[in-house]
Amino acid sequence: MRIILRKLKPSDIKYFTKWWRDRFLLKLTSGVLKPISNQEVERCFNKMLSNKKDQHRLILLNNKNVIGHIAFYRITDKICGIQIIIGEKKYWGKGYGSSAIRIALKEIREYKYKKVCLEVRPDNLRAIEAYKKCGFKPCGFKKYPKNEFLPIVLKMFYDLKE
Ligand SMILES: CC(C)(COP(=O)(O)OP(=O)(O)OC[C@H]1O[C@@H](n2cnc3c(N)ncnc32)[C@H](O)[C@@H]1OP(=O)(O)O)[C@@H](O)C(=O)NCCC(=O)NCCS
Repeated sequence: MRIILRKLKPSDIKYFTKWWRDRFLLKLTSGVLKPISNQEVERCFNKMLSNKKDQHRLILLNNKNVIGHIAFYRITDKICGIQIIIGEKKYWGKGYGSSAIRIALKEIREYKYKKVCLEVRPDNLRAIEAYKKCGFKPCGFKKYPKNEFLPIVLKMFYDLKE
């Protein structure tokens, strides 16, 4: 198996239309299950596509199948955030997510960041395991009392100096 990352292109909207409506994925990520309209999908996708600051990549298996999306973005000059979904469930738990994260970390090293941070649902054990395998360490919980869909997250960080 070979994982590669490539930049987004306009026709990729079809993947996001599917993933952003997948209840399994939504339960593991935002928790917001209300169906998203075509208009909203278009608006969010176009925002990603035209965003010059955040780095969005599609995850490809064997240079053929699009299986997910990974993004990294500036939080501060020293801290970079990262998010990932493997959108196709049949590809979960096969090491592809960790592989994509390691590739992204290599790319992130080319910038001047010192740390990479992420937030994950405390009960998303598969994700937490994958992040740990890649070298992320838990660094406490953060509460979002106003967010009924995601009231608490586990924060994890990766030290780029190590
Ligand atoms: C999270 C995600 C990116 C991880 O990618 P992946 O390819 O599935 O993960 P990997 O196979 O690289 O690693 C998963 C690890 O968790 C382990 N695991 C799976 N289910 C588990 C569970 N219920 N409890 C504990 N560990 C579990 C696997 O055994 C594997 O570890 P191993 O390689 O030591 O056996 C992917 O599963 C995904 O996108 N899920 C849906 C969306 C999501 O949760 N995104 C993250 C939001 S923060």
